[in-house]
Amino acid sequence: MKKGFKTVSLLLVIMIFAAIVAACGSKNGGGKVSVGIVLPTKDEPRWVQDEQRFKDALKGTDYSTEILFSQGSSAKEKENVETLINKGIDVLIICPQDGDAAAAAVEAAKKAKIKVISYDRLITKTDAVDYYVTFDSIAVGKAQAQYLVDHAKGSGEPLYLYAGAASDNNAFLFFQGAWTVLQPKIADGTFKIANSSEAEALKDTADLSRDQLSKIIGQVTTNWDANEAKNKAQTHLTAAAADMKGDVAILAPNDGTARSIADVFASDSAVKSFVVTGQDAEKASVQYVIDGKQSMTVFKDVRDLVKDAMGMAVSILDGNTPETTGSYNNGSIDVKAKQTEVIVVDKENVKEKLIDSGYYEAKDFQGL
Ligand code: BGC
Repeated sequence: MKKGFKTVSLLLVIMIFAAIVAACGSKNGGGKVSVGIVLPTKDEPRWVQDEQRFKDALKGTDYSTEILFSQGSSAKEKENVETLINKGIDVLIICPQDGDAAAAAVEAAKKAKIKVISYDRLITKTDAVDYYVTFDSIAVGKAQAQYLVDHAKGSGEPLYLYAGAASDNNAFLFFQGAWTVLQPKIADGTFKIANSSEAEALKDTADLSRDQLSKIIGQVTTNWDANEAKNKAQTHLTAAAADMKGDVAILAPNDGTARSIADVFASDSAVKSFVVTGQDAEKASVQYVIDGKQSMTVFKDVRDLVKDAMGMAVSILDGNTPETTGSYNNGSIDVKAKQTEVIVVDKENVKEKLIDSGYYEAKDFQGL
């Protein structure tokens, strides 16, 4: 009888202990973080936008998450991932600073049985990526190029090409998408390449290989850095002959670089007019578009990307398999992906797409 009681009470103690452990491991539990989020840098408004949209999406939910920034350093990024692993995350949402370099960080996560979602930028050359949420980056490049084609003035127009960082797989996708639209228009004489001997050498090649893309991007990269973009644009205009000025077209990869490139071209009196692309719908660029200083931007609704990433994370936490719509090869495996569409914004539709849609508030802009 006594022995039996002891067994029952021991069982009770074990059950209570198990309940406490389970509670600690739950979404609300003491100090445990379920979803870790790592973003590349606070220095570009694009990623601060993502942080804000994550916070908005998480408001009122009981998911325990933590957002860390890598500040442009792959070492810091690895450290961030390790910090989150130690906090017991089950899912890691990570936008890599450098696609190849991030492999080591996610391999550490995989070892700790954490599911990895590559966010916006693909982590490359590793099998430790489970899912990828992204915008249609080829479509971004195509939309930028199509805008230049649609606004070309006659023929023989100088075309200045700029690209993102070679460490970012997206830079390849953007340029690849743009090239498929621009190349036929270079071949038919609408545009003449002003600033890239590598692109000039490949002007008859419709489909560029990764190596060929590398050559052009290596020459016209901005490294996603507004200052580098500015310096390059200045160098190009200083070197340009008179027939490479006048009315010009500029492929700028994103808003941060577009604004600084636009400022350089605007200050050259031999440049009569220019059409310049962008992407991200950063507030400063939305103002530039309203003011006619930047021609267009590609709006990527970050709310959708955040929703997709968190949706995937929650489905993993619930023990389900997230829905995907396709896959991307990362140089090692095909990563299952969910892709989101993009919207072209210029002066004509900026109010409708960005203000009336509730993405931004009218009070943040002048001259709408
Ligand atoms: C993102 C862009 C961003 C760029 C620079 C790319 O991977 O897709 O939205 O402008 O990185 O940060």
